[in-house]
Amino acid sequence: MIIASIADFREAARRRLPRFLFEYIDGGSYAETTLRRNVSDLADLALRQRVLRDVSALDLSTELFGQRQALPVALAPIGLAGLNARRGECQAVRAAEQAGIPFTLSTVSACALPEVAAAASRPFWFQLYMIRDRGFMRDLMAQAVAARCSALVFTVDMPVPGSRYRDYHTGLAGAPGLRGAAWRAAQAAVRPRWAWDVGLFGRPHTLGNVAPVLQGRTGIEDFFAWMRGNFDPSINWRDLDFIRSEWSGPLIIKGILDPADAREAAELGADGIVVSNHGGRQLDGVLSSARALPPIAEAVGDRLTVLADGGVRSGLDVVRLLALGAKGVLLGRAWAYALAAGGEAGVSHMLRIIEAEMRIAMALTGTTRIAEIDPTILAGRA
Ligand code: GLV
Repeated sequence: MIIASIADFREAARRRLPRFLFEYIDGGSYAETTLRRNVSDLADLALRQRVLRDVSALDLSTELFGQRQALPVALAPIGLAGLNARRGECQAVRAAEQAGIPFTLSTVSACALPEVAAAASRPFWFQLYMIRDRGFMRDLMAQAVAARCSALVFTVDMPVPGSRYRDYHTGLAGAPGLRGAAWRAAQAAVRPRWAWDVGLFGRPHTLGNVAPVLQGRTGIEDFFAWMRGNFDPSINWRDLDFIRSEWSGPLIIKGILDPADAREAAELGADGIVVSNHGGRQLDGVLSSARALPPIAEAVGDRLTVLADGGVRSGLDVVRLLALGAKGVLLGRAWAYALAAGGEAGVSHMLRIIEAEMRIAMALTGTTRIAEIDPTILAGRA
């Protein structure tokens, strides 16, 4: 199929992936109200067209956490995304490098940190959850240090996993043992390209970072059981001391939706935050990122680097989040769809689309540099 947009990548991923993987990426929690709001609240923001302002030289580069990057975007951490194509995170990290932007490896990735480090030629970001076993966390942070990861993204909005109905409907959740395996195998059987590329030649199908500690029970069928059993609901602000004692590089706290929490993060010396509702996958009914972001940026934007994610389906949406106060934007589903559709080349193509669409949005709002993007490019906010 002809791919011209993120929506096309989504459709290509739907055709390529077994249903349980597609719905896992595509879905949100409960009635998916927040998932829809993330998209619609961004789309509702009218851009302010300006003309005759010499937009012949556009500079989309920016600096985040002391590193120059070609675009103000990064690939967000996504669990299981590496199963969307053969050794998928290794392909995605290369595409991100080529585009000059950071890739974030999830704790619950298919490829383990050292495998991704071997595929990469530049530092990437590593995402960490609060796990009950602090020794395991320590070990992962040591691996991130050894791999010279350039930032640690500490996800704080999942003390317990949200309920995602689609995952029950596909057998990814709630169907342990042989029954679940047979169900998923049936879904894979009608997706021959995936079955060949990943099912047959993309092994092992384990959670790479978790496999060494849980010997055996780390396959996709154990994914939710592992999250429920090992994510630590006692997580609290004091745990940042523990993270800081093991990690001295840039620390980004992901999953902030309230200005009071953003202030706390700044107080405790975080270098950045990601304004995020976990892509509408955790507490359904909370504010969209577009609505949550402005008061947070207002509260702490001068004390730490505010990033945002959620609902970004085009380069225009990246520009909208920047206008609302983000200094950088994390792309989540967009890269997971693109990876499923075309591997490394697919992710590169997706990033070219995002860049081209950003250029058009900047040119037609009369901005030539990322730093010039502010609320005045939104209609009615000048
Ligand atoms: C994990 O972070 C998920 O959203 O499934």
